[in-house]
Amino acid sequence: MRKNHPNSVSLMALTCLPAVISEAAMADGDPKRGSRVFQQQCAACHSLERGRHMTGPSLADVWGRKAGTAEGFGRYSEALKKNPGVVWNQPSLDAWLQSPNAFIRGNQMTFGGIGDPQARSDLIAYLKTVSEGREPSAEQSGMMAPGEMVKLKEIGPNAQVKAIRYCGDAYHVTTVAGKTYAFWEFNLRFKTDSGANGPPRGKPVLVSGGMMGDRAFIVFAHPEEIGASIKSRC
Ligand code: HEC
Repeated sequence: MRKNHPNSVSLMALTCLPAVISEAAMADGDPKRGSRVFQQQCAACHSLERGRHMTGPSLADVWGRKAGTAEGFGRYSEALKKNPGVVWNQPSLDAWLQSPNAFIRGNQMTFGGIGDPQARSDLIAYLKTVSEGREPSAEQSGMMAPGEMVKLKEIGPNAQVKAIRYCGDAYHVTTVAGKTYAFWEFNLRFKTDSGANGPPRGKPVLVSGGMMGDRAFIVFAHPEEIGASIKSRC
């Protein structure tokens, strides 16, 4: 497999450092940096909570898992389901993340790939850490990141929404902690989650939706709360 991917981590490392093998390249991956790569490039589609499937399957236990076998994810492409014997580990994830389509033709992950071997290595180190239950603490911007949607019931004042003001083409969202974020109306989405993971009634949660901090969504327990929470005032 490595032969088919001349730009893979280990070969890159070989050109830079003497006598390095893929294990060493793996050790170079920094899970903290990888966590940032995940938030920016993966979290919109993948959760790290076991069993929480979004556009893509949960990656909570991806390390060592056979491709196309996340329990409860019913939207795998034939290409991924039928892939003979791919197990997610360092070399397979490296090849997949470099170019999903080159690695498993016909898959349905809409993602062009990550060209930077270091970024891939960091990300893979992070995924391994998460699978082993040793997730490094994510950097907090105040808002929650999508991958952390896990415990909307237990969220703190930084993410709990106190007020939403609509003025011009913008929403101004104030959290219980007192911070106000402004969003262009087209970049703020409203969602509901009435399930076990959703927020309590009357306590909507602000979740960051993009790397620039300019997109987010608010999750409510019930659709009736949405209109009632938004006040038109300039
Ligand atoms: C636009 C949404 C989207 C983005 C962004 C995305 N993925 Fe995916 N991912 C998917 C979908 C959908 C699948 C299932 C593909 C299929 O069945 O062909 C998938 C599948 C996977 C799989 C295989 C899982 C399994 O159970 O076999 C891995 C691993 C994976 N993605 C990792 C990542 C990582 C890491 C990133 C960030 C660099 C990422 N994905 C970015 C949507 C996405």
